[in-house]
Amino acid sequence: MEGFNDYFSYKDDQLFCDEVPLSKIAEEVGTPFYVYSKKAIEDKINQYKDAFADYPTLICYALKANSNLSVLKIFSENDIGADIVSGGELFKAKKVGIPSNKIVYAGVGKTDFELSYAIREEILSFNVESIEELYVLNELAGARKKKVNISIRVNPNVDPKTHPYISTGLRTSKFGIDIDEALDAYKIAQSLENLNITGVHCHIGSQIMDVSPYKEAVEKTAELVFTLKKEGIELEYFDIGGGLGIKYKPEDRPPHPKQLADMVIPVVRQTGLKLIIEPGRSLIGEAGALVSQVIFTKNKKDKHFIIVDSGMNDLLRPAMYNAYHHILSVQKKDKKVVADIVGPICETGDFFALDREIDDVKRGDLITVMSAGAYGFSMSSNYNVRPRAAEVLVDGNNFRIIREREEYSYLIQPEEKYLNEGEV
Ligand code: LLP
Repeated sequence: MEGFNDYFSYKDDQLFCDEVPLSKIAEEVGTPFYVYSKKAIEDKINQYKDAFADYPTLICYALKANSNLSVLKIFSENDIGADIVSGGELFKAKKVGIPSNKIVYAGVGKTDFELSYAIREEILSFNVESIEELYVLNELAGARKKKVNISIRVNPNVDPKTHPYISTGLRTSKFGIDIDEALDAYKIAQSLENLNITGVHCHIGSQIMDVSPYKEAVEKTAELVFTLKKEGIELEYFDIGGGLGIKYKPEDRPPHPKQLADMVIPVVRQTGLKLIIEPGRSLIGEAGALVSQVIFTKNKKDKHFIIVDSGMNDLLRPAMYNAYHHILSVQKKDKKVVADIVGPICETGDFFALDREIDDVKRGDLITVMSAGAYGFSMSSNYNVRPRAAEVLVDGNNFRIIREREEYSYLIQPEEKYLNEGEV
């Protein structure tokens, strides 16, 4: 089947998401919109579940990849937990019924407000990223007469061989506590009466296409687990973070969750700890796409431009990481052009592709930016006072809106009431 993956393919030269032609959604919903295949999400969940079936593993979906409530509900209904990084994400996770004992909370800058909220909710683990956080968490827990579970996020100093902006496990990054200082951190945690040490956490980066760095990270972290044991500090959980890559280019062959499982389980098994994994992108990325309409085309000296009705405010990845996203025309064309596909925003960085060979689309045609399900809508903004796009979920031959397109009134609502305050 021609197309991009099992969920986005052409039938009679028309691009479909599962059984639904994207042009039909565009007619009813307008453009731009994000579209997600429910089947793709559930298939991925099952791939992960099968891959880790032989070892006690809790899968905590990283909400930062995509936190639409209807998307989260799919995870919740499939008994997936949550990896959160803010109070807002905790609020959303709880809203869709993810139980507190399946929620882990990482992040270098958790505020007192957020920590208190998560203490109240009695989450499974605070993945603590600094010594100061240990002290503050202990104090806030004490104030509520609670004991909270903590893991220390260690930085195993492993190069995940991915984009520097999404490498997190290097010594120079702001994340975690360096692994050679971790023992001291655990000893401090042990001395704090409201902390219950339950685990160790590491996350080395994102869009990882070769699983070997995981082995290095997990081996280094396992060494720490053995050292802790000798010191009388017993853990329950070994959290290896997320990071598995997805297909962005047609020729990409990302690792299967089974490859990750085969790489890490033998090492984790030696520690006897239960496993936690925190995939984000690989659960939702390929399940989603961004559909836009061509507003204009224009030719400049040596360049052809295709200008579409979505921009870097909708999908920031190309502008921010120079990320490649494959782009397909919704109605297939015989003729090809080489073009810059750009948005309407007043920034040179507002592009989806540069010098890309693409179907010769014209004003009114629809294009689809592939693999936009993760870090797409969740990183979108209202820059240039642009309403954020609609989101649509496809289930077989049905589709429904899961987030309406923002209206202008929504954009001014938080400001409007202050409009006349400065007047005397
Ligand atoms: N756990 C922790 C502690 C994380 O920091 C992250 C992602 C994940 C899990 C999920 O990683 P994933 O499985 O999605 O790779 N905006 C960037 C990606 C930033 C990832 C941040 N942390 C992008 O668009 O590529």
